[in-house]
Amino acid sequence: MEGQVESLIDRAASDLVHSRHAIALTGAGISTESGIPDFRGPNGVWTKNPEAERRAYRSYETFLMDPKAYWEERLSDTAPFAIIFREVEKARPNPGHLALAELEEMGILKGVITQNVDGLHRRAGSRNILEYHGCSFRLRCAACGTRFEREDYDLEGLRGRGELPPRCRSCGGVVKSDTVSFGEPIPSDVARQSQEESLKCDLMLICGTSAVVYPFAELPRIVGRRQAGGAATVIEVNAEPTPLTQEGISDFIIQGLTGEILPRIVEEVKRRLTG
Ligand code: APR
Repeated sequence: MEGQVESLIDRAASDLVHSRHAIALTGAGISTESGIPDFRGPNGVWTKNPEAERRAYRSYETFLMDPKAYWEERLSDTAPFAIIFREVEKARPNPGHLALAELEEMGILKGVITQNVDGLHRRAGSRNILEYHGCSFRLRCAACGTRFEREDYDLEGLRGRGELPPRCRSCGGVVKSDTVSFGEPIPSDVARQSQEESLKCDLMLICGTSAVVYPFAELPRIVGRRQAGGAATVIEVNAEPTPLTQEGISDFIIQGLTGEILPRIVEEVKRRLTG
């Protein structure tokens, strides 16, 4: 097993060194070693609390029907969002995040498209980041799309004065969390850029995602369709096989923890570059 992992790490490092436009796609799995639970792994938030997932599926509908109720729920201490938000605030980037930031610094990785809303890629030093499901430290106007930092609004003060929902300072529209809920469209700027990157890349390094949530899960399949012409290499680094593995979308999976595998790939890349 270890010998196979070792040779796959070598193969991934060689593919990265020879790539022209490599991008990384990440999911909650890359943040579990920072103490933030994933959703569908053995200790996932949805795995342990299916009711929380059902509630999450209703969040966007609540927002559309009653933005004030949406905010009352989000700001209540027991809401899953509040619990996850407290975990996120305490979390620090782990060696997996740092490894991707280092590959970008070396000019090998051109960017990261992440489903995570924890902001850890940015705090690790990554710069070209597409936050496909938004960021829990930001708010976004549902009318004009303007984004704000969460601390730009005194949400507890608005709540106390009965003045929820927060209003957009550009257009007066209703402001929601920047995080994208089930059923909510992906913001068009991020959706377009992610599609462009998936069409342009010749290597996609997919880290810590079960690849079951659309439309994000469509991105590797875009590459898979291009692969017919051998256009791109898809590499998974994940604790367990995923539909991408089973469907043959990925060329290979390095099964293990991103916090251990990704730094070893970076070391092998460095060894190859310095000869
Ligand atoms: N290293 C590698 N893989 C890991 C690690 C780790 N340290 N920890 C967990 N994993 C794997 C799990 O085995 C699982 O296959 O990462 C994957 C995480 O999958 P999910 O929990 O489904 O998370 P994700 O794919 O990001 O979910 C997508 O679902 O609920 C929505 O909006 C939410 O963005 C999220 C989306």
